[in-house]
Amino acid sequence: MQNFTFWNPTKLIFGKDQIEQLHKEIPQYGNKVLLVYGGGSIKRNGLYEKVITELKRMDAEVFELSGVEPNPRISTVRKGVEICKENSIDFLLAVGGGSVIDCTKAIAAGAKYDGDAWDLVIKKAFATEALPFGTVLTLAATGSEMNSGSVITNWETNEKYGWGSPAVFPKFSILDPVHTYTVPRDQTVYGIVDMMSHVLEHYFHLAENTEFQDRMCESLLITVMETAPKLLSDLENYEYRATILYAGTMALNGILNMGYRGDWATHNIEHAVSAVYDIPHGGGLAILFPNWMKHNLHVKPERFKQLAVRVFGIDPSGKSAEEAALEGIEKLREFWTKIGAPARLADYGIDASKLQIMADKATVNGEFGNFAKLSNKDVMDIYKASL
Ligand code: NZQ
Ligand code: ZN
Repeated sequence: MQNFTFWNPTKLIFGKDQIEQLHKEIPQYGNKVLLVYGGGSIKRNGLYEKVITELKRMDAEVFELSGVEPNPRISTVRKGVEICKENSIDFLLAVGGGSVIDCTKAIAAGAKYDGDAWDLVIKKAFATEALPFGTVLTLAATGSEMNSGSVITNWETNEKYGWGSPAVFPKFSILDPVHTYTVPRDQTVYGIVDMMSHVLEHYFHLAENTEFQDRMCESLLITVMETAPKLLSDLENYEYRATILYAGTMALNGILNMGYRGDWATHNIEHAVSAVYDIPHGGGLAILFPNWMKHNLHVKPERFKQLAVRVFGIDPSGKSAEEAALEGIEKLREFWTKIGAPARLADYGIDASKLQIMADKATVNGEFGNFAKLSNKDVMDIYKASL
């Protein structure tokens, strides 16, 4: 196990009707609130009205930024920064999924930065401060509600990058499973793939003696795999939604990955795909992750075998570590296919024509990946295997 410091200041407020905490949580930060949301799901399912009621209870002066895109764009971040600067906004409230929250993080930091917010995303500048913000999460997937990361796309240049800063942990996040009832089946699946992928990104690391961390990761994967099929045939089941919502937050809030550094190459490879084709992040991961695993099996076959045996129930007797590992990878693919995730780039109409462009984007800063270093050729091989 490696040395580590764990610090996560986000107050997590979980459960039915917890939206009623909003009018108590916000006033300590001020009265001028910028409400940030997406393309309209919160208006259709009634959450918008509930939020406005809460903001009225605290006599907030409310400003709005709507239309945050899935794969949120820097152009929308810039609009938000302008609203904050022009109106001396005190607090931002993100109501939505990971995209709305990520966009809010960039606005919050951009509002305190004397320059273009894109500088923060491309790491030309570091966000040392940000306006305070809270979130009302509506989709279980990214973990953005309890971490300090954000992913922003520049559609003009087809670039999509993750950035982060301790300044952009949400002050609080309200998670009511009921707010996720209306998430469509496909987005529910993408969220499940995303949270499982976060655990897999953690799981493939080179540190020794991570027994407890391994079992926490395995437990999360098993729980999600047991719950997902039940949830997908009963989308408004409170308990199933609660389990998945909680799991999604725990998968990427730092709890699982103390004492080691996960790989994270597959996320980089996926971001290059969604930067060019604007596909859902979870869909891209479902296609790419099993192929990343096969490509890097040789690095530490025993690790892949452990996953296969403990999570996918593979019987290792009479098999080499590689054989057991491959069976596990097949089971992962089978599971994702069974719940309705895509398996090939062709499922999104993606052919070989832009693979090199995507690989060049993924390797713009050179080789990457903490478990296995990937070169441009490695990325091309994984893309080709994913066609
Ligand atoms: O825009 P609206 O109308 O709200 O609709 C959204 C959107 O179309 C809809 N939706 C959300 N909640 C709903 C709902 N529809 C009905 N009922 C609800 N309750 O779902 C669609 C997708 O939403 P989005 O926020 O894009 O999904 P997700 O939470 O998966 O976020 C994806 C983004 O997060 C980034 C991804 O790259 C992608 O840009 N990530 C952020 C991370 C982080 N900050 O830690 C880590 C992740 O690995 C990921 O990269
Ligand atoms: Zn992800």
